[in-house]
Order: sequence, then C-alpha cells, then structure tokens
Amino acid sequence: TWSAVPAGPPDPILGVTEAYKADKDPRKINLGVGAYRDEHGKPYVLPSVKEAEARLSALKPDKEYLPITGLAEFTQNAALLAYGADSEPLKQGSISVTQSISGTGALRIGGAFLARHYPNSKIIYLPVPSWGNHTPIFRDSGLEVRGYRYFDKKTVGLDFEGLKADLLAAPEQSIVLLHACAHNPTGVDPTQEQWAQISDIVKERKLFPFFDMAYQGFASGSTSHDAFAVRHFVSEGHHIALAQSFAKNMGLYGERVGAFSLTTTDPDEKARVNSQLKIVIRPTYSNPPLHGARIANKILGDKALYTQWESEVKGMADRIISMREKLYSALTHDLKTPGEWGHIKSQIGMFSFTGLTPPQTKALAEKAHVYMTADGRISMAGLNGGNIEYFAESVDAAVKG
Ligand code: LMR
Repeated sequence: TWSAVPAGPPDPILGVTEAYKADKDPRKINLGVGAYRDEHGKPYVLPSVKEAEARLSALKPDKEYLPITGLAEFTQNAALLAYGADSEPLKQGSISVTQSISGTGALRIGGAFLARHYPNSKIIYLPVPSWGNHTPIFRDSGLEVRGYRYFDKKTVGLDFEGLKADLLAAPEQSIVLLHACAHNPTGVDPTQEQWAQISDIVKERKLFPFFDMAYQGFASGSTSHDAFAVRHFVSEGHHIALAQSFAKNMGLYGERVGAFSLTTTDPDEKARVNSQLKIVIRPTYSNPPLHGARIANKILGDKALYTQWESEVKGMADRIISMREKLYSALTHDLKTPGEWGHIKSQIGMFSFTGLTPPQTKALAEKAHVYMTADGRISMAGLNGGNIEYFAESVDAAVKG
C-alpha cells in the first residue's frame, strides 16, 4: 500500500536532536533545538513551575475536558502578559483568545483561521530567514508563502532598507509575519524606532500583522520590554493576530502551552470570531491539554509566583548573555579565529546566527560531535562552563579548515 511513499527529509531542527542522540562520543554537544539548559547542560525545570505544580497537586484537581478554547483564566492571563494592562482592546473586552498547542499550534490555528476568514488576501510574507517551521505551517494552512528581506549577511544585522522596500512592494492586504522579539534564527531584532517605522508601513500598505512571540522575556530579560512591538502596534490602532508560546519562557516545552489571539472591533465581533476559532479547533484536536495551562495560569495569576518567575526568566537570559561574552572572547582573544565575531555578543535571545557555512557545520558534527542546524544557528543555551572551550576550539578548527 505504501510502496510509492517517498522517504521525507529529517526535520531541519528536531532532526539535529536525533543525530545528537545517536552519537556516542562523550564530548558531544547539542546546539540545535532551542531548549534552555542549565550551567551543567541539564534541562531546567523552573522553581516557580515546581512550586506551581506542588500547589496544584495539593488541590487534587480533576482531569475533565477543557472547553475547546481552553482554560479561560489562563487565556485571559496570557493576553494580559502580551498586551499589557493598559491595552485598549483588553480593557474593552475585544480580544478573542484561545489556548493552543504551544506556539506551533497557535500559528496553525491562526493560519487556518486566516485562510478561511481573512477576506482580503491569502498571501503571507515571512522574514528571510525565518523559523524553519513557519513555511510548512502556513503552506499547510492554505496560505501562499512569500518572503521579505530581513537579514543582511554582509553586516550580520538587519537589512532594514530591504525589509522596508519589500513590505512597501507587497500587495495591499497581504499578511505579514513579524517575530515580536528574539528573532529566530538570527537573533537580530529591529530597534524601537525601526518598529515604529514598520508599523507605519504596515498601516500605509494596509497589511495585516501576525506576530509570533515565542520568546517573551528572553530578549531583554523583561517580559514587558519584549512585548514592545506587539503593544506599539496595538496602540497605533492595528488589528493584529498573535501567537504566544510558554515553552521557552516557562520551560514548559513538552507541556505544549500557548495561546492564539486576534484583536477585534468590539465584543460582538469577538464573539463571532471566537465561535469560528472553535470550528477550526474542534476537528483538529478537540480541546487542549490541561496540566501545562494550569501551571502557567498559577504562575501568571499569583503575584509572588509571577515575580519569582520573572526573575527566573531573567536568570536564563543573563546566563545566555554571559555565554555570548565568553564565546566571543574565546574566539577573538584566545584563539584568534579568523573572521569578525562581534555579532555573537550583539545578537539577542536564545540563538546566535554564527555565519558558519553548511560544510563547516557538517564538519563540526562529523569531526567534533558538535551539532547545530545547517544554517549555522546555535542555541546559546546549550553552552556552559564545561563545554564552551571545547566548542570554541572546534569552531576554530572548522573555520581554519
Ligand atoms: C527551535 O527553533 O529550535 C524551537 O522553536 C524548537 C522547535 O520546535 O523548532
């Protein structure tokens, strides 16, 4: 029956983890998937998450189904975290929000909803490059995927002129996907002034902004600072779509906790949009998982736990920044590795877009047992005091060929 089914390629990101797991060398390092590791290279369960879980289990909660759009208290708290207490649509009760299977699920609900109900266009513009899963998510949702310039290889920074030119040339009413903060994979974000200009262009061209906010708190260590772009667009009167993930900032990767929201004109429009979100979700996975949403809700809804969580997010962001400094100094000062490495320090969030080429990344995997995505992206969180020297020496060897 399946003799004509061709073998598909491994996933560009999760396939790296598979290759890493199959490697038996004790020096091996996985810098592929964006998952935080502590200073000993171990997965990190946030103390605030442990505390929330302990409080939850003391309540002996039931295991009933959630509603189709999830735990209502959680989705309200998630919207508050993203939009901020001063947000007009939040105050007016006109944000339609549903729980989602983390960020991917949020993007997919959004893609499916837009393909069905956005009246104006089926074209979505993604930054080039973007997270590897964006293209398949939106393509499989039934949208036509196009790119806008984002990363400038020469400056290893934002190609702001290219970005503006491409958005200005996009057909009116197209959808534009924006990484709210800590752009994946480049670690390069627009400045606040640049965001203001992007907002103006999106308004002028009547584009529809769809924000992916998978790293709120990871860019600056502050969740409100990282929400600047989202809040600025909303305060400028844009209607937006927003995908949120709690995988990274709460370390709830496998619990699959996220939210998808749309700002609408009024509570009546919101109710109609909500009803259609349910019609997208019900035949897809019926209703979302319970446990992770309860944890996130406990943290977001309790003042002391929330404050503790914010400091833990900052702790993760700070450890990553210290690894950036150590790596930069090892390559530049200790090893005198050819090339310019300043971007390792200036890039933001969990990733660094190193500039290593596909042959170099291949050599690093084969010779040094160091794994990263083929585009040269490394998850800085995979580095620690115990492996950073070996990593820098391996990069040095790969660059010197
Ligand atoms: C990543 O980019 O590594 C993360 O967003 C994890 C994933 O699902 O790809």
